[in-house]
Amino acid sequence: MKYDFDQPIDRTRDISIKWSPALRRQMYGEEDVLPMGIADMDFPTAPAVARAIQKRAAHETYGYGYLAPEFLDACVEWQRRRHGWEIQPDWIVYTPGVNMALVCALELYTRPGDRVIIQSPVYYPYYDYVSATGRRLALNPLLNREGRYEMNFAQLEELAADPGAKLMILCSPHNPVGRAWTREELERVGRICLDHGVMLAVDEIHGDLVLPPHRHIPFATLSPELAEHCIICTSPSKTFNLAGLLVSDIIIPSDEIRAAFQKKMSPYYLWPGNFGTVAQIAAYREGDEWLDQLLDYLGENARFLDDFIRRNMPHVRCRVPEATYLAWLDFRALGLSPEALWDLMLHQAKVAPDNGVLFGPQGEGDGFLRLNFACPRSQLTLALTRMAHALRAAGL
Ligand SMILES: Cc1ncc(COP(=O)(O)O)c(C=O)c1O
Repeated sequence: MKYDFDQPIDRTRDISIKWSPALRRQMYGEEDVLPMGIADMDFPTAPAVARAIQKRAAHETYGYGYLAPEFLDACVEWQRRRHGWEIQPDWIVYTPGVNMALVCALELYTRPGDRVIIQSPVYYPYYDYVSATGRRLALNPLLNREGRYEMNFAQLEELAADPGAKLMILCSPHNPVGRAWTREELERVGRICLDHGVMLAVDEIHGDLVLPPHRHIPFATLSPELAEHCIICTSPSKTFNLAGLLVSDIIIPSDEIRAAFQKKMSPYYLWPGNFGTVAQIAAYREGDEWLDQLLDYLGENARFLDDFIRRNMPHVRCRVPEATYLAWLDFRALGLSPEALWDLMLHQAKVAPDNGVLFGPQGEGDGFLRLNFACPRSQLTLALTRMAHALRAAGL
């Protein structure tokens, strides 16, 4: 490999939610807990991106930027090259992150009291978008088939048929269950939403992180009809570890929906920042080789994790994810309460994955933990070894 993903980096002095000792003390009660949650990577970004940022920093003026043609073109070419999706530069709208775009979509297409369909267990801020804006949840829980999650289409159809259901937020690929939805699955979701007039906000932030041989199907490529019925949220932030640069590409093929979205965002006068702009351009123009090697490394980490768990934590279920760098681990066979499991991880293993309860507050996440494996293998080994020792010491 040309790029070294094995090299540990010290992030404890970085201003990092994941690694700040003070925040770890505050969140977990212990500052020496090994953080294995929060979805950013413990790898440096691609060298081309770092160079672009260093060059921009050397300029020493950091005034207002704008939505530059190079930024848009880099995104257009990336989508074509990586995913075979032909988009136009003027379909791209900027928001400082995908969360903001999803909330904007929610405010555009629903009113207080309306229902928003989401598929639990799921990225936990979705619950907050709905509750904080006075909308109501319409939960379409995924079906866990021996660790592989599938959609419950019959129940989705019932939810979509409710006239109060106005929007579905579809997580594709899915965080945390790691599915890269197939064309057939996506088409069925699309058909149901079209039939019942439910708008789709599709969160494709993990779309570049699909582990071969699986493939990411951009939702808007399914049909021209569906392309006109959705807001697609993409970003280089997960792919190239740029979450701190607040960059995203919100792709809206429909002129009408895009105009409404832009109108809603216009009072904020948001422009991509200097560093986000150059980072995106470099990542999308020069990042292919780095990303391909990252995906190889993540694939190996996922298989290592699976193998380690089978051999050392035989009661824990793990399924190699199809996408993302997040493993959704099932500890239910141990018979611990969610609180006891969490306590064991933090205070005995001294490892902090994400608590499954957050992703499925109605019980779908009880007994699960989400483990971020985008880290050097030595760190992953340390985390898993600590977890296995803690389970053994507890007689589990
Ligand atoms: C599915 C999903 N959507 C959105 C986000 C957040 O995106 P952003 O940081 O661009 O707001 C994350 C971050 O982990 C995510 O996993």
